Formats: sequence, structure tokens, C-alpha cells
Amino acid sequence: MIHIDIITVQPKMFGGFLGESIVSRAVAKGLCSVSVVDLRDFAEGSYRKVDDAIYGGGPGMLMMCAPWFAAVERCVAAVPDPSGGRRVVMTTPQGRRFAQKDAQELSRAGHVVFMCGHYEGFDERIRTLATDEFSIGDFVMTGGEIAAAAMADAAVRLVPGVLGGGAAAVANESFSDPNLLEPPQYTRPADFRGMKVPEVLLGGDHAAVEAWRRGESLKRTAERRPDLAGGDR
Ligand SMILES: C[S@@+](CC[C@H](N)C(=O)[O-])C[C@H]1O[C@@H](n2cnc3c(N)ncnc32)[C@H](O)[C@@H]1O
Repeated sequence: MIHIDIITVQPKMFGGFLGESIVSRAVAKGLCSVSVVDLRDFAEGSYRKVDDAIYGGGPGMLMMCAPWFAAVERCVAAVPDPSGGRRVVMTTPQGRRFAQKDAQELSRAGHVVFMCGHYEGFDERIRTLATDEFSIGDFVMTGGEIAAAAMADAAVRLVPGVLGGGAAAVANESFSDPNLLEPPQYTRPADFRGMKVPEVLLGGDHAAVEAWRRGESLKRTAERRPDLAGGDR
């Protein structure tokens, strides 16, 4: 069982995601629970202000410490001593690039708190709340909501029992071996507009199929991701 808190100034962004995604299936199966926490509920004053001008000048506004400390501390206090541990994830383009092994680690935690930034990002002191700072790529989005949804999806589908097909469903996909992409796959028909399924996949020789898949996996990884091929990420 994993509990996920998502702290955001845009809680409505999660309506569709939590209604339709693999996360909603995990919730329905009792394997996951999710709370979307409105950061503004932790702001002081009637304007529910969570941002302020940047010391030293510059365009835009920065998220303030006080609401973030209050929100994260409330989430942490609500789930004391989770089995599997707790991860507090700051979404930031300056973080380490999120990878499958990070999804695997998050899936084993009992409590994951996602911090979705906005505006020009976080006051530097807010970083002290996070156990991890993750980026989903070298580009800048307006907020951390899409990053949090991506990471939550990648983690929750790895929680045992969430996907039909059990452990096998996630055992042989891209990055389950961190240095390999999945080989090409096919379904019926065996011949579509002259594009034929490789003969070896039709013959029923399981050892030959496995050998072919391994070879294709290596070839595809070398072609598309030479940064992965032959090394640790
Ligand atoms: C406009 S961005 C702030 C960017 C910041 N001023 C900088 O240059 O590093 C606002 C928020 O979106 C989220 N964000 C943007 N790009 C992201 C990425 N590639 N990965 C994860 N989060 C991202 C973060 O939460 C960030 O605080």
C-alpha cells in the first residue's frame, strides 16, 4: 500500500488523471491512496498568497517558504512511520533526471509526497524539505503537476498487483534492465501490407524466440540509445 500526497496550486489539474489513469485503478484495488493537497490552504491571509517577489530583483515571483513547510509537515505528520519509508520529491528542471530505477524505488515506499512548483520555482530553503529532486527532462514547464503525474504513474504501475499479468508484465520492458530497450513486438496479422512478422516469432521455438529478442534488444539499444548500451546509467 502506497499513499501519495500531491501538493500543488492547481489541484484541478489532477481530476482527469486521478479519474482515468493506472493510479485510479490502483486506488480501486486498494493498493494506493492519493490526496491532492492545495498549497493555498496553508497560506496566510485572505489572498492565500504563496508567492512573492525575488530578492535581488528579476522578473516573476518565487514560491514562499512558509506555505511549503506547513504543507509538507502536515503531510508527513499524517503518515507517521510508513512501511517502506517515505520520499519527499521536489519537481524541478534542476533535479536528477527521473529514471526507471527511481520509479522502482518510489513504488516500494509507503508514502510519497510530490511537491509541484510554479511561477519561477521554489525559494532555495524549501529544498531542505525534499529527499529527492527530480526532473523529467531538459526542458522547462510552467508547473510541476505534469512531472508529478508522470512519476506517480511510473511508480504506481510497478506496485505488485496493480497491472494485470503480475510481475511478468513489467519484467521485460524497456529499462527493467536499466541498460536495455525492449525488442520489437508484433501482433496479428502476420502479414500487414507486405510487412511480415519475423519468421522466428511464428515457429513456437521458445529458446529461438528468446535468443532473437535478446539480440534485437541489444541492437535496438545500440542504435537508439548508445548512451545506455554497454554502461550503467
Ligand atoms: C517555470 S518552472 C521554474 C524553473 C526555474 N525558474 C528554473 O529555471 O530552473 C516552475 C516549476 O515547474 C516545474 N518544472 C518545470 N520543468 C520541469 C521539469 N523538466 N521537470 C520537473 N519539474 C519541472 C518545477 O516544479 C518548477 O518549480
